[in-house]
Amino acid sequence: MVKGEQLYEGKAKKVFATDDPELLIVSYKDDATAFNGLKKGTISGKGVINNQMSNLLMRYLAEKGVPTHYVQELSERETLVKKVSIVPLEVIIRNISAGSFAKHYGVEEGIVFDAPTIEFSYKNDELGDPLINEYHALALKLATKEEIETIKKYSFRVNEVLKDFWKQCGVTLVDFKLEFGRLADGTIVLADEISPDTCRLWDSATGKKLDKDRFRRDLGGVEDAYQEIMKRLTDAFEG
Ligand code: TMP
Repeated sequence: MVKGEQLYEGKAKKVFATDDPELLIVSYKDDATAFNGLKKGTISGKGVINNQMSNLLMRYLAEKGVPTHYVQELSERETLVKKVSIVPLEVIIRNISAGSFAKHYGVEEGIVFDAPTIEFSYKNDELGDPLINEYHALALKLATKEEIETIKKYSFRVNEVLKDFWKQCGVTLVDFKLEFGRLADGTIVLADEISPDTCRLWDSATGKKLDKDRFRRDLGGVEDAYQEIMKRLTDAFEG
């Protein structure tokens, strides 16, 4: 596989072309941002952890019936993925109140819901990723009705699979964000990443935050938290 020109640099990853038009290489950086890029920093070793964690979880999800963009881990920080056109919707699933949910609705963090919630944000940095409903997404032609149904089905499936998985690691899956893409033939697959950048993960026994909220909220121990959550995950896969 020949690594070609850099096509794109995002906040946490770079994307490169390959000699196969259907495949791309993503390269994970240690850069961290929050609040739509307003807060900037570095989380040393994050790129390696997010790459390896996302790949492990995507391989696991594929076994459980969720198709993904994952093809092959190339190195500590680099992964070969299927080229997709990203559906410009961020899908957020929540099991427990936290973050913007707690803020918007004036409730404390930590309320366990009877059933998971789903919401969409319009993936648009200039607009600050505003919340959007399905009707708005259809009006803006961001996705078709069928695509949105598929995305919802896969997102709840991801939640069931990952909630159970993290539970075995002594970790509570509070909420997370997913992105989906279309392959050349229109098939919807899970894309982007699943990592402590995109999930809230709390130690089940102590409630300690083991995710990017430590960076967002200046809680300290950011690198240690990323290492701890990665250790829990690798122990579960090896054990
Ligand atoms: P929120 O409570 O701030 O809306 O975040 C919900 C989940 O989505 C949380 O697990 C963090 C994740 N997330 C991202 O992955 N990217 C983002 O830009 C934001 C705002 C949240």
